[in-house]
Amino acid sequence: MTTIPTVSLSSGGTMPALGLGTSGLQGPEGAAIVSQALADGYRLIDTAAQYNNETAVGAGLRDSGVARDEVVITSKVAGGSQGREATRTGVNESLRRLGVDYVDLMLIHWPNPSRGLATETWKTLLDIQSEGLVRTVGVSNFRPEQLAGLHQATGVWPAVNQIQLSPALARRDAVAFNAEHGIVTEAWGPLGTREGLLDQFVLRKIAAKHCTTPATVALHWGILQGYVVIPKSKNADRLRQNLSVTDIELDSEDLSAIATLDLGEDAAWDARTHEEW
Ligand code: A2P
Repeated sequence: MTTIPTVSLSSGGTMPALGLGTSGLQGPEGAAIVSQALADGYRLIDTAAQYNNETAVGAGLRDSGVARDEVVITSKVAGGSQGREATRTGVNESLRRLGVDYVDLMLIHWPNPSRGLATETWKTLLDIQSEGLVRTVGVSNFRPEQLAGLHQATGVWPAVNQIQLSPALARRDAVAFNAEHGIVTEAWGPLGTREGLLDQFVLRKIAAKHCTTPATVALHWGILQGYVVIPKSKNADRLRQNLSVTDIELDSEDLSAIATLDLGEDAAWDARTHEEW
């Protein structure tokens, strides 16, 4: 079984550098994929209240027979659950649907600035963390100035910021800000499928050179940068393929070529205006 590298969290402990994204995986099929992924060796599963699949993720975890404390479960507070009381209710509902008594990592899903509730939500998550219902707290899709707002109000930086990130959206300023403040950068959409990354000639050429696939190169690149990557797949072969990212070694020529694939910050979803509920 492939050994998955880990990254250190500012809050203490570590998390796997590669996990399973679950957006769109639902019902019995979703549960079976989660269970299969755990049997294959995945130890990080990323869900969200908004994905409508926490029940399936919990079922997959139980069906796998893998011990609860061997798996890092991430969930996220949905836009509609921001605010003091709503966040408490939202977290409790996530725990109930997952069928667990704690979540390893709980993130604020999107900042949703039009409501102005991110700071209150962050303060509530810190309280909930101190009560033991969540081990580590972080955010998703936060821009540097939005992260700074949370820190200014509480003196605490999120341990993790999960953002849209791949060789097609390298987000240099965002990841530099995260690194400067000890925030682990986690990449959603790490295969850049929305940007057509896997069809890029440059990536295909590097994959051919290393006798591997464009997806493996993209994921390996992310891990090499120190990011956590969470590719999603409904396909058993691709689930396993995505675990084999440590079997290749990219050289400086490859990395220079990959750098040309960056479409720039403007191509990423902008959390000042993009909101999700
Ligand atoms: P599939 O489920 O058919 O494997 P996301 O960007 O949300 O992580 O989604 C990843 C997308 O890329 C999914 O649609 C998934 O489709 C596809 N995918 C996952 N792994 C691979 C792979 N190794 N090669 C090609 N496509 C992949």
